Amino acid sequence: MCGIVGYIGKKKAIDILLNSLKRLEYRGYDSSGIAIYCEDEKKLDIIKKSGKIKDLVQEIERRNPSSSHIGIAHTRWATHGEPNDINAHPHFDCNKKIALVHNGIIENYRTIKSFLLERGHKFKSDTDTEVIVHLIEEFYKGDILESVKKSLKMIEGTYGILVLSSYEPNTIIAARKGSPLIIGKAEDQMIAASDASAIVSLTNQILYMQDGDIARLTKDDVEIFNLETDRITDKEFEQIDITLSQIEKGGYNHFMEKEIFEQPEALQNTFRGRVDIVNGTFRLNGIKDKFRDLLNAERIIITACGTSWHASLIGKYLIEKFTQIPVEVDYASEFRYRNPIITPKTVVILVSQSGETADTLAALRESKNKGATTIGICNVVGSTIARETDCGIYTHVGPEIGVASTKAFTAQVLVFFMLSVALGRKKMLTFEDGINLIKNVEIIPDKINEILNDKDRISKIDKIVEKIYNKTNFLYLGRGINYPVALEGALKLKEISYIHAEGYPAAEMKHGPIALIDENMPALFISLKDSIYEKIINNIKEIKARKGYVIAIANKGDREIEKIVDDVIHIPDTIEELSPLLAVIPLQLIAYKTAVKKGLDVDMPRNLAKSVTVE
Ligand code: AGP
Ligand code: GLU
Repeated sequence: MCGIVGYIGKKKAIDILLNSLKRLEYRGYDSSGIAIYCEDEKKLDIIKKSGKIKDLVQEIERRNPSSSHIGIAHTRWATHGEPNDINAHPHFDCNKKIALVHNGIIENYRTIKSFLLERGHKFKSDTDTEVIVHLIEEFYKGDILESVKKSLKMIEGTYGILVLSSYEPNTIIAARKGSPLIIGKAEDQMIAASDASAIVSLTNQILYMQDGDIARLTKDDVEIFNLETDRITDKEFEQIDITLSQIEKGGYNHFMEKEIFEQPEALQNTFRGRVDIVNGTFRLNGIKDKFRDLLNAERIIITACGTSWHASLIGKYLIEKFTQIPVEVDYASEFRYRNPIITPKTVVILVSQSGETADTLAALRESKNKGATTIGICNVVGSTIARETDCGIYTHVGPEIGVASTKAFTAQVLVFFMLSVALGRKKMLTFEDGINLIKNVEIIPDKINEILNDKDRISKIDKIVEKIYNKTNFLYLGRGINYPVALEGALKLKEISYIHAEGYPAAEMKHGPIALIDENMPALFISLKDSIYEKIINNIKEIKARKGYVIAIANKGDREIEKIVDDVIHIPDTIEELSPLLAVIPLQLIAYKTAVKKGLDVDMPRNLAKSVTVE
C-alpha cells in the first residue's frame, strides 16, 4: 500500500515530489511527508503531516525549507501504528543522516527492533518501517549502498524503499521486494516511484524494477544489482504510452465520475483489434501460446479480490455456459491458504486491475509453484501480475485512479466475454452464434452512452438518491449472471458512501435477510427480462408484501414492473450474457451520487487505498 517517490535532478525537488505525491495519493492518504537534502545547510530535512497532501503542502509553506534538488516522499496507508504525524514517513535514523520511505510490511520488525534497542538505537514511531533506517545506520561503514544491502538481507516481509542520506547527497538507493517500484529517466534527472502516474509528467522512459533488485540512482545514471547474487543486472528503459490527460480529471468533479463516463470509450479500447469477424470469434493474441491449455483444461480456477472477484463470478458464468469447462472462483486471500487442488490440467486465471494486489500475487505464485498454467487479466501494463503470469489479456482501459473501481470492472467482464466466446467457438458455439455475439457486444458502448446521457434517467437516479442517502442499510438483489452485479452495487455503495449494503441472490433472501425488511430498508432488484424474470418478480412481491421500498433495474420496454415497485431505472435491451455491462451502470451512478450528496470524499474514501499491496 502507499505511494513513494524519489527525485534527483536539475529541477526543484519539492515541486516534483509534491506533484508526484498528488498523483499517488489514491494509493494511500493517511499521512504524507518528504525528506530533502538542503544544499545550504548540508543536512537532511523532513517535513511530514497526518491527513491529506494538502495538509503537507500547508506545512511545507509554513516551514519554507531551503532549496534542494534531491528528495524522497511518501503517502501512507497505515499498517503498523496509527496515522499520526510521528508515524508518517519518511523516518530518520538516530543521527538524522539517513531518511527512508517504505511501502510494505516488515514481518520480523519486532526481532530487529529488540536487536537495535540493545545496540542503543532510539525509536520515535510505532511503525514497522523505522527498523529499516536504524538497521542501515547500524551497518553503515562508509558506503550507503552496502549498508542497505546488508540490512535488507536481514529483513523478512515486503518492501519498496527509497533511501536518502547526507553521507552521499547525490544518490538515492531504491530496492524492491513485493511492492512495485519503477524508475524514470529524463535529461539530467532520475525519478523512482510506485507507479507510472507519478512519473509521466517528467518522462515516458521507464524501467521496471524486479523483486530482489536494489538500485543506485544519480541524476544521470542508474545501476541495478541483484540482492542475492550481488551482480549488476542489465536493464533497458522502455517507452510507455500513458499520457497526462489520462491521469487528470478532464472537467469532471471526481476521477470516479470521469471513469464511469469514460466506459463507452474504454470498452471500445478493450475489444479494439480483437474482433475476428471472418471466423466469428475474438482474437486474443496475448494468450495464444496457452490457448490449447485452456481448451483442454479439466478445471479453471479464477482468483481475485473485491470488484475483480465480482467480475470473475461473471466470468465463471460465461465460461461454463459457452464451454462447459468447470470453473471455480476463489478469493485470492483464501485460495493460497487452503492448499488448493491444482493438477497440470488446471488453469488459474488471476484478475487484477492494478496487477499489484498482494493477495492475488501470492495466489499466482502458489499456482505456479503447484504447476498450473497461469493467465492474467490486468489493466496496468507491465504490472507484477501481468509480468509473472504465463500470459494474459490486458483490459486496456487506461489508468483507473478512483478508489472505487468502475471501468476496470466492465472491462474485466468484457474480457471474460471475449475469452469465453473464443473458447466456446472451439467447442459448442457455431459460426452464427459467434457472429451474433460479436454484433451484440459491438453496440454495448452505445447502449452505455444511452444510459449515461439520458437526462430523464439521470434525474430519476437523483430522485432515488434523495430517498436513500440518509438510510443506514441497503439490499441489492439479483439472480444468475446479475447476482455478481448485485454484489458489486453493494460494494460500491459501502466503500464510498459508508452505507451498510449487502448483495444477495434474490431467491436466497427468503432464507434469512427478509427479516430485515421494513420501510427503512431499500432493496434494489436487478430484474431484467431474462430466463429468470418471473422468479425475480415473485421475489419483489415478497418484499413489497412486507412494505419494503423497492427500486428495480428493468428493461426499457418493461412497463408492467412499474406497477409493482416504487421506482424503476430502465436500461436498454441486450442479450443476457452482456446484461451485467448495462445493469451495473445505474448502480455505479447511485453509489457515486449518494457519496456526493453526503459530501464525502468520493475518490479517497476513508480507510481504503487503490491497490492493496499488503496482505
Ligand atoms: C473496488 O472498488 C475496490 N476498491 C477493491 O475491491 C479492488 O477491486 C480490489 O482491491 C482488487 O484490486 P485489483 O483489481 O487492483 O487487484
Ligand atoms: N508498514 C508501513 C507503515 O505502516 C508502510 C505502510 C505503507 O505501505 O504505506 O507505516
